[in-house]
Amino acid sequence: MQAAAALKDRFEADGFLVLPDFVGPGAIASLRARAAEIVAAFDPRDAAPVFSTRDEAKTKSDAYFLRSGTTVRCFFEEEAFDESGGLRQSKALSINKIGHAMHDLDPVFAAFSHGPKLAALAADLGNADPRVYQSMYIFKQPRIGGEVRWHQDATYFSTEPVTVTTLWFALERADRSNGCLWVQRGGHRTPLREQFVVDAGAGRLEQRDAAPWPVEAEAEAVEVEAGTLVVLHGLLPHYSAPNRSASSRHAYTLHFVDGRVPYDPCNWLQREGDFPAQGFA
Ligand code: FE2
Repeated sequence: MQAAAALKDRFEADGFLVLPDFVGPGAIASLRARAAEIVAAFDPRDAAPVFSTRDEAKTKSDAYFLRSGTTVRCFFEEEAFDESGGLRQSKALSINKIGHAMHDLDPVFAAFSHGPKLAALAADLGNADPRVYQSMYIFKQPRIGGEVRWHQDATYFSTEPVTVTTLWFALERADRSNGCLWVQRGGHRTPLREQFVVDAGAGRLEQRDAAPWPVEAEAEAVEVEAGTLVVLHGLLPHYSAPNRSASSRHAYTLHFVDGRVPYDPCNWLQREGDFPAQGFA
């Protein structure tokens, strides 16, 4: 009980937690193997959308993206293609991520994404009714792994008050060389700067507050070993640099909100009654 209170205190003070050895080698291997199977089964001719946070409104209004919230789809790295439209690397080394409902729809990811350990963690952090809206398998591919600029995850999960929490499971070592997370310690006490809203089938980023993003000196690298769980507060500014190294940086993420507070109907991820967002139990 005391450990849980200490964890919550630390989370509330810093806006993030680093929990080493949260995931064992067997679970890491099974998630990695399953992700490889999903990519192997993916036919690029089905769609060739590129995921980029630079040109977010355009990319995210793409129907392929907006309809991925209740299914499992692959997205290419922005730099996956050369000038002639061919892949620079093999397909397996060109996928930016898989998203966004494998935690409910894929048996291997669903098994990992539920259970008493995650339920207890969510409860320890004060979420009485966690609802998991999103899962992503992020590859951060060698050489072409794209940058994700400064942002706050609450931009994509509006609730009043903000309750979204990110679980970021390192499936490989993440360090400065291969594009680890960078955070602003304590930055969850700054305002929400942007809101991603969907309106008439198109998505756009709207500014909510003119507060500047952190300067370089305020950014702290979160270098972690495989198996570490990083927990992020929804208002914590964070980013990751491009991966120019020869090593990938795989991670699996879950985003949950507290079901006791209103969930914004303008959020891009919506669940209907026959496919509700569920908890960890
Ligand atoms: Fe994020």
